[in-house]
Amino acid sequence: MSDVIIGVRAERDYDVVIGRGLLGHLPQMLEGAQRVAIIHPGALVATAEVMRDDLADSGFDVTLLEVPEAEDAKTAEVAAFCWSVLGTAGFTRSDAVVGLGGGATTDLAGFVAATWLRGIRVVQVPTTLLGMVDAAVGGKTGINTDAGKNLVGSFWSPSGVLCDLTALESLPRNDLLAGMAEVVKVGFVRDTTILDDVRRAPDAATDPQADLLADLIRRAVQVKADVVSADFRETSATSGDGSIGREVLNYGHTFGHAVERRERYRWRHGAAVAVGMMYVAELAALGGRLSDADVDLHREVLGALGLPISYPGGHWDELAAAMAVDKKSRGSLLRFVVLNGVGNPGVWAGPDPAFLTGAYDAISS
Ligand code: GLY
Repeated sequence: MSDVIIGVRAERDYDVVIGRGLLGHLPQMLEGAQRVAIIHPGALVATAEVMRDDLADSGFDVTLLEVPEAEDAKTAEVAAFCWSVLGTAGFTRSDAVVGLGGGATTDLAGFVAATWLRGIRVVQVPTTLLGMVDAAVGGKTGINTDAGKNLVGSFWSPSGVLCDLTALESLPRNDLLAGMAEVVKVGFVRDTTILDDVRRAPDAATDPQADLLADLIRRAVQVKADVVSADFRETSATSGDGSIGREVLNYGHTFGHAVERRERYRWRHGAAVAVGMMYVAELAALGGRLSDADVDLHREVLGALGLPISYPGGHWDELAAAMAVDKKSRGSLLRFVVLNGVGNPGVWAGPDPAFLTGAYDAISS
């Protein structure tokens, strides 16, 4: 596949480039910067060093900024460490950050860039499937605090996103499959051809060297770009006019976040979202919005990817309490993105408690 470029229109426009060996795009995306900090986890130090040498050859003054792995990077302490490195190195408004890593690293890098001098450029270089199709695209940045995950952050668009597919070749299989949950999510809410392709060829759909996976990533990013371009700040969620904008990307996330919380974040995000999609499909069916055949389609597609499609019973009170504090439940009502048929999403606020427990029974029996 030759490089694909997808434009996003937000508070500033930027491109998401999908392809192989994309480092050559970086200097142009960083043009005008003198100093560049590459924020990366220890596991990616070799890649970060190659990037540093490449950028140094192009005349940039590069600082490598190593942060803890995965969610351990998304803390106020790590952000403060990054700010102090930028301060010591004399980063100005025209300088830039590169976020190299999975979704947690790019969330942190985006947050550091958004807050340093009230906002400097960030180029995101996601190395996981989840990062490529979701976290690194769209400009949601943030860290976790004692109050919860992602409650501190900012909308801050990157100046560019480079999705280098070669990174997926060394990604652990379970991380790849978890990332597929977000691809499938896009299939259920918007581009239903994704579902057909995953169902038809689950092996090629999860083969980092296959054209099919590259094409699924392209389609998932295209949907995310369209959604973000139309509703960058997720204002539709609070407008009360019944329209659905960026919130559509939360399909499966209300129950999914509750599972993640109950599992003390030891589950991969995508695995929890897979269960969350099963739950909300059952909920929609109980509410007369979705047919049994469409619920079965959820089971079939997620099952074909080896993602979890059930959750142990007996934990309703804990899950319900976790859903109640989830930031997606706005106001006093629990709020779900539901399907009124595949590809036709809407919001259901305050479903009858009997439906809520009925859907849990359906996925736990
Ligand atoms: N991951 C959901 C969003 O970007 O809005």
